[in-house]
Amino acid sequence: MKKLFIIANWKANKTTADANEWFKGLAQVDYSNYNLDSKEIIICPPLLLVPAVKTLISSLKIPKLKLKLGVQDISSVKEGAFTGENPVRLVQEFAEYAIIGHSERRKNFNENDDLLMKKILNAYDAEITPVFCVQDENTFIPEKISLIAYEPVFAIGTSNPDTPENAERVTKLIREKNKIIYSLYGGSVTPDNVNSFTRQEHIDGVLVGGASLDPVKFSGIIINS
Ligand code: PGA
Repeated sequence: MKKLFIIANWKANKTTADANEWFKGLAQVDYSNYNLDSKEIIICPPLLLVPAVKTLISSLKIPKLKLKLGVQDISSVKEGAFTGENPVRLVQEFAEYAIIGHSERRKNFNENDDLLMKKILNAYDAEITPVFCVQDENTFIPEKISLIAYEPVFAIGTSNPDTPENAERVTKLIREKNKIIYSLYGGSVTPDNVNSFTRQEHIDGVLVGGASLDPVKFSGIIINS
């Protein structure tokens, strides 16, 4: 059975109370009939919620779910006199993964290839694995990257996912051109469509936005993937 990454990207959503409720909901689901051994589930909350989510993951210990922590972004600077930034060494205490290059950051915060390269190097220095988002087969992918998420902009938050066939075509092409080990799909993933993506040869999981906000939908994605 191939390894699958199921990533929840909460974006700028949820308070501490919401996160508590979400984990309660996730823990209430009966997973006993499913083999989830090959699935790594990575929760990416807003940065301020990361310590609380770390505590929730370790205290709840939901049997069968391999839960890991990720961040939605990482600083392009390391530490020091950079007001408003978070030192990468602090993030390292909590997170094993960092989403880098999401189209919402490229578009709304003008993140370009040079800046993304700095973030990637920072992540690797801190032994945090980048989940590098690419928007199509022509997006620049730095050499070091081993895990990408193909996320076409038209599919993000629109209920209009790419077709599994096209997602397979693009991820296959990207894997042929780069030294990628794992390629994920993201964009309007739901419990109903997740398996049409994860059963493709070159799709090793999903990056989920909207549907990850609801623990019932997200557990459906985990189970059906
Ligand atoms: P969506 O978002 O699942 O809401 O389309 C995906 C993403 O932006 O990572």
